[in-house]
Amino acid sequence: VPLIFRQSDGSETPVEVQSGRTVMEAAVMAGIPGIEGECGGSLSCATCHVYAPEGFEAPGDYEADMLDFAESPRRETSRLSCQIKVMPELAGTVFEVPA
Ligand code: FES
Repeated sequence: VPLIFRQSDGSETPVEVQSGRTVMEAAVMAGIPGIEGECGGSLSCATCHVYAPEGFEAPGDYEADMLDFAESPRRETSRLSCQIKVMPELAGTVFEVPA
């Protein structure tokens, strides 16, 4: 499934990832700067913060609480990328990496 990571300077990196992985894993495997995934996806570090496109699925309650611990400013579309499962429907989605 092709995904795109956009940095705050506007540069975009396309990444190809298998369905069933998470968006955090996709970013870490591709070495996308700014997405660390320190806790390995157990929803306890908030270093996998991304901005999803408008209208993207909202975070769950616990994820929403954890987003308060993200270093970068939170937005309406903030998500923790370890909680986003990659599905074929996500093909071509652009995730913005916080500055
Ligand atoms: Fe730690 Fe997502 S990788 S909360």
